[in-house]
Amino acid sequence: MIVQPSGPPLILVSGGTGYIGSHTCVCLQQAGFGVLVGDNVTNSSEGVLSAIAAISGRRPLFEQADVRDAAAMAAIVDRYRPVAAIHFAGVKSVAESVRDPLKYYDNNVSGSLTLLAAMTRHGSACLVFSSSATVYGEPDTLPLQEGHPLRPESAYGRSKMVVELILADLCTADPDASVVTLRYFNPVGAHPDGGLGESPLGIPENLMPHLGRVASGKAAALSVFGDDYPTPDGTCVRDYVHVMDLAEAHVAAVRLALQCPGVRVINLGTGLGVSVLSLVRAYATACGHPLPYQIVARRAGDVACYYADPERASHLLGWTARRGVSEMCDDSWRFINTPTALGSPG
Ligand code: NAD
Ligand code: UD1
Repeated sequence: MIVQPSGPPLILVSGGTGYIGSHTCVCLQQAGFGVLVGDNVTNSSEGVLSAIAAISGRRPLFEQADVRDAAAMAAIVDRYRPVAAIHFAGVKSVAESVRDPLKYYDNNVSGSLTLLAAMTRHGSACLVFSSSATVYGEPDTLPLQEGHPLRPESAYGRSKMVVELILADLCTADPDASVVTLRYFNPVGAHPDGGLGESPLGIPENLMPHLGRVASGKAAALSVFGDDYPTPDGTCVRDYVHVMDLAEAHVAAVRLALQCPGVRVINLGTGLGVSVLSLVRAYATACGHPLPYQIVARRAGDVACYYADPERASHLLGWTARRGVSEMCDDSWRFINTPTALGSPG
């Protein structure tokens, strides 16, 4: 039985109960799309669907499924006939990918192939893909433009690069296929109402979740990985981008994918570099008290400085990040302090 032959155009959101996916579901619904989430909830929970509904007023359709399960993905596509997919589902820890590369190629590469096979069952694929700025590796020039050489330094980064290459080949073979590949810089923040944010099942390695743990007293101090980089204050510089800005960019990307075939690769960042210590200060302002930190050794594999050239996103998507660092920290802190069905993060 086909569930939705009419009604708003339905978007399959793989990984839609995850961090970026859940915020995107809210924005898709608010933009008038129907949303079908497919997720195996290995790094999220079904409770996220209620958090989405509490904001948007509508609970997305949900299928608990693994993107690597060909039969399940085919059945979902046959049943719901989504007009496009946004493919968030995957694993994302650089450190884990070094220890267990096969897990990364399996989830990220095999999972993408299976989803693509399902999405081509009733015509050409229409897909928005979650890639990462990590595909660039050590930058030759800044800001990073999409044409910069790709030299990812981990299995995670290489798994993203391989999928990008597969998608380009698909669009060469099928002129009606439509792909928008989005390279995220450093996604942070939460929905401003406090009910939706980053709620992974383990403790993430990234800076922002650690700041939240220190601010809420769950960790004694932040370890700052190195203050001897060639940057203004010696700490690493990144392009932090608010998750709501990212979510809005996905709505624009899916519209672009639906309108014109071909492959487009687009950076999603603000274009502004922010140091670790600047982010510590901004978070201290948001939570209203100083955050203890200690300088420790550099973390292996860290690049001193990178930030996006956001020009192509502006040109192709009509999208520019609107939210600044203080809003990122305020919203992150509000989520930590809002009692929700998702529980307290970290
Ligand atoms: P997340 O872990 O919060 O969300 C991923 C979701 O996918 C989770 O809900 C998880 O349960 C699900 N999932 C994982 N493997 C699956 C599988 N095989 N089948 C079905 N569901 C599966 O991660 P996120 O931060 O929302 O990231 C979303 C995407 O964006 C990922 O592909 C990630 O690599 C990419 N990305 C994230 C960041 C970041 O910093 N968050 C940066 C660059 C790129
Ligand atoms: C990491 C991933 C990248 C991914 C990105 C966003 C690596 C090498 N890269 O990037 O693939 O796309 O996350 O999810 O892991 N820091 C501290 N103390 C901490 C944690 C971090 O000082 O406890 C510093 C790091 O050294 C870095 C900065 O904060 O300079 C940002 O770190 P993080 O949030 O992990 O992001 P990236 O390393 O940029």
